Amino acid sequence: MTSPHHPIQIQEVSLQSIAQEFGTPVYVYDGEKIVNQIKSLQAAFATVPLKIKYATKALSNISILKLVKKTGEGIDAVSIEEVRIGMLAGFEASEIMYTPSGVNFKEVQEAVELGVMVNLDSISLMEDFGALYGGTVAACIRINPHIMAGGNAKISVGHSQSKFGISIQQLPEILDVVEKYKIKIVGLHIHTGSDILDAEVFLKGGNVLFEAAMSFPDLKFLDFGGGFKVAYKAGDPATDMEEVGTKVSAAFNEFCEKYGRKLELWIEPGKFLVSESGYLIVEATVVKNTPQLTFVGVDSGLNHLIRPMMYDAFHDVYNLSNPAGEPKPYHVVGYICETDTLAKDRMLASVSKGDLLVFKNAGAYGISMSSNYNSRLRPAEVLIWEGKAHLIRKREEFEDLIKNQVVIAI
Ligand code: LLP
Repeated sequence: MTSPHHPIQIQEVSLQSIAQEFGTPVYVYDGEKIVNQIKSLQAAFATVPLKIKYATKALSNISILKLVKKTGEGIDAVSIEEVRIGMLAGFEASEIMYTPSGVNFKEVQEAVELGVMVNLDSISLMEDFGALYGGTVAACIRINPHIMAGGNAKISVGHSQSKFGISIQQLPEILDVVEKYKIKIVGLHIHTGSDILDAEVFLKGGNVLFEAAMSFPDLKFLDFGGGFKVAYKAGDPATDMEEVGTKVSAAFNEFCEKYGRKLELWIEPGKFLVSESGYLIVEATVVKNTPQLTFVGVDSGLNHLIRPMMYDAFHDVYNLSNPAGEPKPYHVVGYICETDTLAKDRMLASVSKGDLLVFKNAGAYGISMSSNYNSRLRPAEVLIWEGKAHLIRKREEFEDLIKNQVVIAI
């Protein structure tokens, strides 16, 4: 069962040694992989003025953001907290795109005060924004392109029944509000979903943007959102970024000719940058045989990695401690008090209590979607950068769990 797809070390740092030094469960990220993913996008879109706005929500650790900053790219933030985290990581306000969904207007004002570009996602927000700022603050509009795309219903967000953006069919209304308040619209944005394999979806989205763009004379950029699919196991198809880059760039350059000016092309990848960089190392705490199956229980669960239970997501898992063991079928389950299957019916090299198991594709929406359910503590995070393991988040302690509770006299 040893395979190049199942690394035992990253940048020559052994995963065993990380588990030993920092304990389990622990999230480990390969910084080099993140930088290489950014480079591959830059190469795929080499013929256009590309700006990458990393989708912070995927993995918002400040040290990871600093790494993105180092590559010269920016970020997309969906909450004022993500904006603030981005600034702590060293991003200038001008490098941050703020894409809220139905938030209190006070939060939007806060973002404007910080100098961050706001992505307006409803007519109502446009009205409030226009009434307060008129033409003094440049903004972007999030268009809902009515495109159904994405790995599953929960992450398909650009279709006609989705809460996101302003329907492309409401363009006349959008233009009325822009005109009424003289709002300075410098960007148009779409994001159709996550785990999108097909290049055509991005082209289709582009066509919606290109057509709408002709009604906005002051544009500086078009933002195609994120959603590029990565591989979850050997042989699993990923979005062909070369194809997306070539096709979308050609269409974009053609559009710019028609528009009369060269605009910037923005994308907002989350998973593509960080999913494959991440590993969640856990320890097998019990091997339980039933008349039907064998379960491996681990010292983690859906509180740390919710994607399998939330989206039926497949996360490859392997036995780090006994890679040459005889392959056997297992259900890998967490310690949470409800069905908590992390990996169903998988062939793993024979597992014994105490073995270390590694979940892959744990970089995106792993720790960022974690919780304290069952009053459990969140894992530590370790970044491997320049051949060294760096602790970038301490493991939570019991005190962290209760620190905001106010205990009253009863
Ligand atoms: N831009 C916007 C406006 C978004 O809403 C998202 C993700 C992205 C960019 C980045 O999408 P990505 O490149 O990561 O697919 N928790 C789910 C994914 C939810 C994505 C939400 N929006 C998962 O674990 O599959």
